[in-house]
Amino acid sequence: MRITIIGGGYVGLVSGACLAAYGAHITLVEKDPERLKRLEIGELPIYEPGLEALFSEQKAQKRLSFCATIEEGLRGSKAAFIAVGTPARRGSGHADLSFVYDVAKDIALTAQNDLVVVTKSTVPIGTGREVSSILRTLRPELRFSVASNPEFLREGQAIADFMNPDRVIIGLDRNSPDKGLHAQKLLTTLYHPLTHPQNKLVFMGLESAELTKYAANAFLAMKVTFANEIADICEATGADSEEVRYGMGLDPRISPDFLMAGPGFGGSCFPKDTQALAVTARKVGTPSQLVETIIAANDARKRRLAERVLTLLGDHITQKTVAILGLTFKANTDDMRQAPALTLLPYLNEAGVTLRVYDPQGMTQARPLLPKGIYFAHNALDAAKNSDLLVILTEWEEFSHISFEELQKAMKGRKILDYRGLWKDQNVSDYGFTYHRIGKRD
Ligand code: UDX
Repeated sequence: MRITIIGGGYVGLVSGACLAAYGAHITLVEKDPERLKRLEIGELPIYEPGLEALFSEQKAQKRLSFCATIEEGLRGSKAAFIAVGTPARRGSGHADLSFVYDVAKDIALTAQNDLVVVTKSTVPIGTGREVSSILRTLRPELRFSVASNPEFLREGQAIADFMNPDRVIIGLDRNSPDKGLHAQKLLTTLYHPLTHPQNKLVFMGLESAELTKYAANAFLAMKVTFANEIADICEATGADSEEVRYGMGLDPRISPDFLMAGPGFGGSCFPKDTQALAVTARKVGTPSQLVETIIAANDARKRRLAERVLTLLGDHITQKTVAILGLTFKANTDDMRQAPALTLLPYLNEAGVTLRVYDPQGMTQARPLLPKGIYFAHNALDAAKNSDLLVILTEWEEFSHISFEELQKAMKGRKILDYRGLWKDQNVSDYGFTYHRIGKRD
């Protein structure tokens, strides 16, 4: 089955490579000539473990091809997946749907045959129906079946999440003449390799599928925000957030997942999706105080990060050096979008602190986003050189293998602030360090 995927970004690339592995023939449309050229030679614009190998394997088996225009990409295709960006508009927080609607118009104007049109991007409730009306208005003579198929990929684990999903959610247009049956049949065929009982193929209404994505992300963001607030209470009362997380998590209704205290959530999804849900809820007259509080609490936490660092630095901060291990919003990605580092580092830089930073994957993405004068180190120990305080901001596995003897020699001071609890089980105090972990009183 030939499928067109429009948008060579994170969602499009992962979906394209994985659907090709499922046996589909994928034509991926990428309008940016530079990106298209790199894709054709197998160079990916994103870092995602396992994607490069899967991508080149599917290319080699001729199940993955590329082109620059939707018209070319739709030739012989049975379905078009819209996987373009829906960035949050600055200020209002509305999801910018202009890219989605432009693609819908292009599909309508260039389609040569009946087509299933699937929104893969995370889109606000009602977008699918709007796409449907754009298609039908422009090409009433063709039969378009619109569906929603939101993805639940986690950066760093996207291939595993796609290949072994808890669920594949498919929203169908029950108001359409065939009540979504044609789209249901095609997508059932497309996802046929998912036969394991745990990989549930779930069909529901269009709006339900669109809201399921937002509700799931907002709920996970709520768990993280709740964990961060419990961590603050732990620090003030002598409790240990990791012990509390374990104790809570034994209740299967709660589970320990997404209850790790951290510097605040980031990434391209939680911030954008919580914003979009809050905006939608307010727009339809049912504002969500909870979602709005999640957003405010998370933003405040990122700002408080820096105060914590300055407190630990003590006086004469303009003569002090801080080493930052980890810049990306989480480990196993190079993604800097809404990373806590983007709040913390400018603030410390402004305060006159000397900064030395290192991230295993994020340095290229981070450099243009951070103030001048910050030293980009070659590795963790280089970042630690002559530092008074070392801050762990992202939980990269490689930071867990650092030699504390070497760290002792490299650092000037002996203070460590661990925002991820990465070294909570390492005996850093044996090497003379004072170890501060969030969620536990110093
Ligand atoms: C998320 C959802 O998990 C995924 O299902 C959806 O498709 C896209 O958004 P992602 O943004 O890649 O995935 O990252 P995720 O692993 O969910 O982490 C989101 C943020 O929460 C990160 O900043 C992470 O550091 C933080 N986090 C996560 C915590 O602080 N504590 C936790 O216990 C888990």
